Amino acid sequence: MMNILTDFFIPLGFNLYKIRKLFGIIKVREKTSDILILGIESSCDDTSASVIRNGVLLSNVTASQTVHERYGGVVPELASRAHQQNIIPVVHEAIREAGIAKTDLSAVAFTRGPGLLGSLLVGASFAKGFAQGLNIPLIEVNHLQAHVLAHFISQGQPDEQKPAFPFLCLLVSGGNSQIILVRSYHDMEIIGQTIDDAAGEAFDKCAKVMGLPYPGGPHVDRLAQSGNPKAFRFAKPQIKDYNYSFSGLKTSFLYLLRDEVKVNPDFIQDNMADLCASLQYTIVEVLMKKLKQAARDLKIKQVAVAGGVSANSGLRNALIEAGHKYGWKVFIPLVSFTTDNAAMIAITGHFKYLNHDFCGLGEVPYARINYTF
Ligand code: KG4
Repeated sequence: MMNILTDFFIPLGFNLYKIRKLFGIIKVREKTSDILILGIESSCDDTSASVIRNGVLLSNVTASQTVHERYGGVVPELASRAHQQNIIPVVHEAIREAGIAKTDLSAVAFTRGPGLLGSLLVGASFAKGFAQGLNIPLIEVNHLQAHVLAHFISQGQPDEQKPAFPFLCLLVSGGNSQIILVRSYHDMEIIGQTIDDAAGEAFDKCAKVMGLPYPGGPHVDRLAQSGNPKAFRFAKPQIKDYNYSFSGLKTSFLYLLRDEVKVNPDFIQDNMADLCASLQYTIVEVLMKKLKQAARDLKIKQVAVAGGVSANSGLRNALIEAGHKYGWKVFIPLVSFTTDNAAMIAITGHFKYLNHDFCGLGEVPYARINYTF
């Protein structure tokens, strides 16, 4: 019976949850006022939970995993184990800080992907059990869409500025470098992306060869403040369309160090600030070139940035400068909403809740990106 129903309804845009609901196979408690969403994020090495009421942030609790520092990168197996340890206390704390009871929740939203599968499974499994235990809807969230929608998290202030549709969002993190055309809360398209390393990876890998701790991005940013951004020149990619590539820059950086260290073993220490400033300058130039091209071609003047690398001071300054030069309205989120956090999952859950876009218990995490969402 269920197979006949799914064969007929799924091509019409129904998901399993909606089919079951339509035929009264499952009944869930769905609220119409005071929407309280619990968001759960576990895609990489941060376990995070957040509660949002009617789009306004009540809590955002994150347990970051320090276990990876000694390995110079995230170890997937250790990440999933740490999520297992952290998830219950983090969710408990988010609900406590929000000042609500768990029975007040309207729905549970969780990151379904992209990310590390072992990490995603922890958050997804927890969210399914929690939603089922409370008999409330479950909402699956695309992590990239959530990074973009972080711009709509309200802190309850009267003068909050939000991007207007359509806008462009440069999403730059440890795992992603994309230019996303955002037509609405529910309609986004990746129009450009990296064909190899992400911008954050370029920062982290180059930092690693200079002996800086993981993640290297913030260290490069700090050291770059006192360096000369034009001291060294590195290869810049010649990639078509709005796509990025950072592997050539990484190799060019590595070869410079290898050659110079042969002549002067203290080369890295002697030139640390200039190396960091030049590296940051090059990465920011590469990112901004394609963003400007996309904004010009699509005639869009609302430009936002998201993801961990948007904390970078060089990138922030370049965006502000481009805003003045090209008449863009620029949106730069708070640092707490740029790195992986559950508030962005909860706000995406809020918009999906308003759309009755729920999922069933059978939805499984995915590791790779979707191009439209
Ligand atoms: O979004 P995010 O927290 O999560 C992952 O994608 O894992 O981004 C983390 C990335 C790391 O590569 C980190 O080095 C980079 O963001 N990052 C920065 C800065 N702060 C964080 N890169 C450059 N400058 C920064 N200030």
